[in-house]
Amino acid sequence: MLEWPPMAAYDDFAWFYNRYWNEEFHGLAFPILERIWLARLPESAGILDLCCGTGYLASLLVSRGFQVTGVDASAEMIRYARQNAPGADFHVAEADCFSLPEVFDGAVSTFDSLNHILACEALEAAFRNTAAALRPGALFAFDMLLEEAYQNHWGESFALVRDDHVLTITGSGYDFRSRLARCSVTMFRLVEGAWRRSDVTIHERCYSPGEIDSALERAGFGELLCYDAGDLGMAGQLGEGRTFFVATRL
Ligand SMILES: C[S@@+](CC[C@H](N)C(=O)[O-])C[C@H]1O[C@@H](n2cnc3c(N)ncnc32)[C@H](O)[C@@H]1O
Repeated sequence: MLEWPPMAAYDDFAWFYNRYWNEEFHGLAFPILERIWLARLPESAGILDLCCGTGYLASLLVSRGFQVTGVDASAEMIRYARQNAPGADFHVAEADCFSLPEVFDGAVSTFDSLNHILACEALEAAFRNTAAALRPGALFAFDMLLEEAYQNHWGESFALVRDDHVLTITGSGYDFRSRLARCSVTMFRLVEGAWRRSDVTIHERCYSPGEIDSALERAGFGELLCYDAGDLGMAGQLGEGRTFFVATRL
């Protein structure tokens, strides 16, 4: 697979993401994945981690004996992933245009990564590419945010201030018509005596359960199971409006 060099939104965010955004989410999500998905995979299964980020989940899966391949659009996130999960294989590629051989027994995509895909056609293409990499009968687990999460939380702000790094996140709210949500991240890091600033904007799109279901069906998945994250024990804001899906490659 070709490496994909252009700058991705998470490149500048990768250092902070790697430091602050892994344990809290996966501490809650991993037990859920174990219950609804991993328990149904064969031992030592080959797993595709789509939008794998900095490889935290990949490292948990490798430590349990799974063979993991991660794909992410951000070269910088993948650079951390290679450090965090040296036993896994990683590729820099966009979800809607990657291609891998049909060798995987399972696929996963976590932390509303698929909401970062901003058009229905691209979401369907990501599902199609995932289906093409899966053996028939393989299970694809992913979580996505539904409207409740965007309505309730995407106008909020967050700040983190440390001696040598500072981050602010300002939610710009949720647009009901376009179903797009946006937040601006401003970061400072003290590197070799100088403060370095970077800014990124994270865009997400809200899809209805019906749109997700139809896109999966057109891409070659069926037998869709949906679980509300709160019902599965994901407490607090992280679980609010989040749904876990498990689809079977037909
Ligand atoms: C919120 S992070 C989640 C990372 C990881 N799955 C986790 O659970 O920590 C979203 C990730 O999706 C990646 N991403 C966003 N849009 C993408 C796309 N179109 N193709 C591939 N990766 C994408 C970002 O680079 C980022 O690493």
